[in-house]
Amino acid sequence: MTTTNLEVIDLTPRIGSEIRTDLDTLLSGRAAATIREILEQRGVVFFRGLDIGDEQQVAIARTLGTVVQNEGENGIYKISLDETVNQRAQYLKGSLFWHFDGSLQPYPNLATLLRAVRLSPTGGQTELCNTYAAYEDLPPADKELIADLRVVHSAERSQYYVTPEMSYEEVVFWQKSPTKTCPIVWTHRSGRKSLLLGATADYVVGMPVEQSRALLARLRDWATQPQYVYRHEWQVGDLLIWDNTGTMHRALPYPEDSGRLMHRTILAGEEPLE
Ligand code: OGA
Ligand code: MN
Repeated sequence: MTTTNLEVIDLTPRIGSEIRTDLDTLLSGRAAATIREILEQRGVVFFRGLDIGDEQQVAIARTLGTVVQNEGENGIYKISLDETVNQRAQYLKGSLFWHFDGSLQPYPNLATLLRAVRLSPTGGQTELCNTYAAYEDLPPADKELIADLRVVHSAERSQYYVTPEMSYEEVVFWQKSPTKTCPIVWTHRSGRKSLLLGATADYVVGMPVEQSRALLARLRDWATQPQYVYRHEWQVGDLLIWDNTGTMHRALPYPEDSGRLMHRTILAGEEPLE
């Protein structure tokens, strides 16, 4: 019988665990089902000191799900705010605000793997909040209020966080990206429910605009209270994986020219969101 070498250290009561294991165990996939389970329960996990490169990152990702190949090269996409490193740096500046990945796609990503290649001397921590826990703790009146509400998500909306005074050309450019309407409450196949908010959340369908903005801000404030948040203090080589269907995340500000570089691999969503 193969024994699996896996130690799980919870970092806060509601979100985040460190998993200690060896590279062989990860590459073999024999712990994959366990890791997926921990990921769903804890929202985010990290591995320290694995000393891996891109190929091993993608190989680990493959044991956990289906690697999305349409961004980056060979399953690796470079996260940097420096336009000479990533042409879409302007869009990536939206990552400094609470969001989940793939909010504009029919199947939001299942999970994201992020590995620290180079760090910024200042800032650049990554924060994540548990949107299952935040939903579970909502007062019953709020659960009732939002049960059937739907929100329009747009790339344009998230760009107002990056550039508050966009030019006409910029507005028109971002408006070309298709919008996506989805519920505030995601009822998963498992029956568990999580909140869907974030920087792309533009307005609640059929609600007066002031009321809609106030509600979205109130729910985000709720979901990002300290008891739902884990802040990752990076070390070079750390591999962080979040359950993108039950968390939101953001990077804390760091200088664009700091050299901070993360290598990202995305696992395809397995549950549609309509
Ligand atoms: C992302 C993202 C946050 C960070 O890669 O999707 O939001 O800390 N990254 O770089
Ligand atoms: Mn992101």
